[in-house]
Amino acid sequence: VTSSARARIAVLYNVDFERQGAGGASYEADAEVRETADAVAHALEKHGYTPELLAVDDELSPLERAAATGRFAAVFNLVESLGGDAAREPDVPELLDRLGVAYTGNSAPALRVAHAKDRTRRRLAEHGVPIPGGVAVGAGEVASVAAAQLRYPLFVKPARTDASIGIDQSSIVRDASALARRLEQLATLVPGPYLVEEYLPGREVNVAIFPEPIEGHLVCTHIDFSACAEGVAPIVTYDCKWRPGTPDYNARSLPSSGILSAEEIAAARSVARAAFLAIGATSYGRVDLRGGADGRFYVIDVNPNPDIHPEAGMSIAARSIGVEHDALAAGILRTALARRSP
Ligand SMILES: Nc1ncnc2c1ncn2[C@@H]1O[C@H](COP(=O)(O)OP(=O)(O)O)[C@@H](O)[C@H]1O
Ligand SMILES: [Mg+2]
Repeated sequence: VTSSARARIAVLYNVDFERQGAGGASYEADAEVRETADAVAHALEKHGYTPELLAVDDELSPLERAAATGRFAAVFNLVESLGGDAAREPDVPELLDRLGVAYTGNSAPALRVAHAKDRTRRRLAEHGVPIPGGVAVGAGEVASVAAAQLRYPLFVKPARTDASIGIDQSSIVRDASALARRLEQLATLVPGPYLVEEYLPGREVNVAIFPEPIEGHLVCTHIDFSACAEGVAPIVTYDCKWRPGTPDYNARSLPSSGILSAEEIAAARSVARAAFLAIGATSYGRVDLRGGADGRFYVIDVNPNPDIHPEAGMSIAARSIGVEHDALAAGILRTALARRSP
């Protein structure tokens, strides 16, 4: 342990979002990574490490150069996209594996599966993890949805984005014409494929997993929509997450202990762990679930590289069991260092 104290840690984050400018479709979601990097650096300092912020944009050469100096004991990887492309997120752990450098978070295969929600759904189904009825379609493929015989209301979302990008109140569609309209509208905003799923009317629960899924914590929080304006559907839209002052904004994450029953919490944790392991995740993350009309939990989203901003759901969950943000970050780093110790 003493050897890792004062160890130099590269806190790696992406700056590619700066190109889209503050008016960009997902600027708020993307720009937060800088604040997260600062907070993680502070946390690591507090725990006796020597953090150095390292930014990447399109190319990974700054990381390769830094790694080649041999002065970093590990990389705290916060990168969510490269060159504006979230599909390139796995390039970072892939490179670090090749270079033999320890890093926090999940490996490339898990990130790759999770990036494509259609692929995630297939993987979960193969592992017997409950998911809502649904189908992946391209722009305008209304006929494929009809063929899948799903039950309305349906929920339409981009299959290759996260952070609620492309999600607003009209993501819930009640008939075929609303579905066609929504698919058409979404195609102007985000490239396909898109997922059309049966709308899950029950409670939305997030299970935070840290520092790893086998011996680590699985902490349930749920989203309380009660302060949202009248008539606003209880879903986490982009406005809900990122735009203070909008009618959707007033949702908040609450610790579930004492509010959900012990049985509900146990069920949520078990489904979440199964989902996380099914995508091959070995580090921290968050699994999003919702209750179906039958009262059971279904997986809507697996996040093997979740936001660990001090105010993000992950940190709220950790705090609810007495793990402050700095301890969360230090714990994640310790697991990464232990993975690589001989
Ligand atoms: N099948 C569904 N039924 C009901 N709501 C859903 C469904 N899928 C997604 N949502 C809502 O949309 C939000 C964002 O979807 P999610 O799949 O978690 O994508 P993201 O990666 O953007 O977080 C969820 O938090 C939830 O409120
Ligand atoms: Mg989600």
